[in-house]
Amino acid sequence: MSARSPLAAPPFRAERYQLPCLAAGQVAVALSPVQPHEAVDLAAWLAAIPPWSTYPVEPAHLESLFRMTAGGAVALAIRIADVPAPIGVTVVRSPWLIGPYMQFLGLAPSVHGQGIGTRVLSWMEAEATLAGAPNLWICATGFNDGAQRLYRRYGFETVAALDDLIQDGVPELLMRKRLRPKGTVKK
Ligand SMILES: CC(C)(COP(=O)(O)OP(=O)(O)OC[C@H]1O[C@@H](n2cnc3c(N)ncnc32)[C@H](O)[C@@H]1OP(=O)(O)O)[C@@H](O)C(=O)NCCC(=O)NCCS
Repeated sequence: MSARSPLAAPPFRAERYQLPCLAAGQVAVALSPVQPHEAVDLAAWLAAIPPWSTYPVEPAHLESLFRMTAGGAVALAIRIADVPAPIGVTVVRSPWLIGPYMQFLGLAPSVHGQGIGTRVLSWMEAEATLAGAPNLWICATGFNDGAQRLYRRYGFETVAALDDLIQDGVPELLMRKRLRPKGTVKK
């Protein structure tokens, strides 16, 4: 994929994205801005599932995160066709560190393991690639083995363990996916 022209729209906009299917039989999935009334419900049920319920995190904290559209962050609801309520949410901060940072990714337990998380990561990579960004960034909680496995399989590597970032004794793992091979950074 080639880099976007400097005159083209920036990546990670507060608009609707239709996610390509990566395998036969996958449901249609779209991303579009979180509506104010949706932020409350999303925050309530996401605060009730791990890893957020394990910390625990207050729903009000998540709600304010899902209302973000300024300061370089965009909150997009994850939607499947014919289902009125969002099935999840992602928040992306771009630009972040020579590439975008996915600050939040959460899906309803009823849709886990159907490849939707992978499709959202793939959308992030496609947007970053079009913008010519050489890195993707994400964090996984130290005890969130499932998310770490997914991110490693997707090509992320742990580059730092951020001790006591959210809770004492629990590291947050900062993970990076290089979109350019090592040793090819332009001078
Ligand atoms: C993590 C998550 C976004 C992945 O999305 P998904 O659509 O379920 O993932 P995919 O179907 O594309 O890929 C499957 C992989 O996701 C991971 N996964 C599946 N269910 C999971 C869960 N409940 N919690 C964490 N990771 C999970 C596993 O690595 C799984 O691979 P495996 O079958 O080999 O174990 C989603 O499961 C989720 O929202 N989990 C709860 C919240 C969470 O952990 N968010 C990430 C915070 S860093």
